[in-house]
Amino acid sequence: MVSFRSLNGLAKAALFSTLFYTTSFAQDSNVKIIYLFEDPALSNNTAIKTSGFNTAVVFALNIQDNGDLVYPLSALGGGSPDVTLVSNGSYVGGTKYADLIKGYKTGDTQITRTEATVGPATLIQSMINANGTDPSTLLYKNLATLKAAWNLDGINNDDESLYDVPSTVSFAKMLGQIGYKYSGAPYTNIPFWQSVVSQVNGNVSGLLDRMYLQCYDGGAGNDPGEWQTDLNMKVVPLLWVVNDAKPEYGMTPAQCQAKFQNWYSTEQVAGGGYWNDYDIEKQNSSYTAYGDALDAVFG
Ligand SMILES: *[C@@H]1O[C@H](CO)[C@@H](O)[C@H](O)[C@H]1NC(C)=O
Ligand SMILES: *[C@@H]1O[C@H](CO)[C@@H](O)[C@H](O)[C@H]1NC(C)=O
Ligand SMILES: *[C@@H]1O[C@H](CO)[C@@H](O)[C@H](O)[C@H]1NC(C)=O
Ligand SMILES: *[C@@H]1O[C@H](CO)[C@@H](O)[C@H](O)[C@H]1NC(C)=O
Ligand SMILES: *[C@@H]1O[C@H](CO)[C@@H](O)[C@H](O)[C@H]1NC(C)=O
Repeated sequence: MVSFRSLNGLAKAALFSTLFYTTSFAQDSNVKIIYLFEDPALSNNTAIKTSGFNTAVVFALNIQDNGDLVYPLSALGGGSPDVTLVSNGSYVGGTKYADLIKGYKTGDTQITRTEATVGPATLIQSMINANGTDPSTLLYKNLATLKAAWNLDGINNDDESLYDVPSTVSFAKMLGQIGYKYSGAPYTNIPFWQSVVSQVNGNVSGLLDRMYLQCYDGGAGNDPGEWQTDLNMKVVPLLWVVNDAKPEYGMTPAQCQAKFQNWYSTEQVAGGGYWNDYDIEKQNSSYTAYGDALDAVFG
C-alpha cells in the first residue's frame, strides 16, 4: 500500500480525482442557466423561455421571523410591492406569480428546471436549531407548499456570510425529503462548500447536484477547475452580463462564449450561465445572443 505521504502533490491530486470521479453520481452536463433578478411580471418571458436556457433561478425569497416566505419584489427591478407567498403552511400569494413561475416550464419553452434562492441562512439555522426538520415544522410545511404552488424543482443556497455546515446539511436533507434538488451559488469559502457537498451527498447521493460558481465580482478570480477538484463535483460557472452596477464585471455574449469555451475545453465544466435577466433588459442586450453563446459551447 503506497502511503499518501510518499506521493507528490500532482500524483496525489490525480489519485484523489480518480477516486472521486469514479464514485460520483451522474450530473447534468449541459446546464444553461439564467438568474431572474427582475419582477417576472415585467420580464420578457417569451425570450427567457426560448433563448436556449434550460434552467431559471428565481432570486431570491426571504424567510421571515414567523416563517412566512416573502418575494421581496420591491428590491427588484420595477419596484412592485412585496408579496407574501406562504404563511403558516398555506399558499397566500395569489395566482399571478404562481402562474408566471409555473409558466416558465410550460408552453413554448426550453426550460426544464426552476429553482428559487431562499435565505437568510441565519433564520434557517435558528428555525432548525429550535424545531428540527420534521414534516410537522413550519419550515418544512412552508417549503413543501411553495414547491407545489410554483412547481419548483430545486432550492438554491446563496449563503455568503453565515457558513454553518450542520444547519445547511440538515436543511438540504429536509429539502430532499420534500422532493427538491439542492444547488449552491458560491463565490468563496471552498472548505465550507466542500463539507456541505460531501455531507449532503454522503447522506443522499446526488441531492446537491449543481454548483453555480460565481466567476465575477467577488468571485472574479475563481478557477472552476480548482473548485471541481476540491468539491468532487462538476461546477457551472456564472458570468455577469453587461450592466451599469459594476460595469467592470459586465461581459458581452462574445466575451462570455470565449470564457465558457475555455473552461469547457480545459476543465469540462457542467454548463454555464448568467447573472441576470434584469441587466439584459436594462441594457437592451439580447437574450438570444447570450443564449446562443451558451448553445455554441454546451449544445
Ligand atoms: C421579447 O422577446 C421576443 C423573443 O426574443 C421578441 O420577439 C420580442 O420582441 C420581445 N418583446 C419585447 C417587448 O421586447
Ligand atoms: C396555523 O395552522 C395550523 C394548522 O394548519 C392551525 O392549527 C393554526 O391555528 C394556524 N395558526 C395561525 C396563527 O393561523
Ligand atoms: C418552533 O415551533 C414553535 C411551535 O410550533 C413555534 O411557536 C416557534 O415559532 C418555532 N420556532 C422557530 C424558531 O421556528
Ligand atoms: C450525514 O449528515 C450528517 C449531518 O446531518 C453528517 O454528520 C454525516 O457526516 C453525513 N454522512 C456522510 C456519510 O457524509
Ligand atoms: C434601452 O432602450 C430604451 C427604450 O428605447 C431607452 O430608453 C434606454 O435608454 C436604452 N438603454 C440603454 C442602456 O441603451
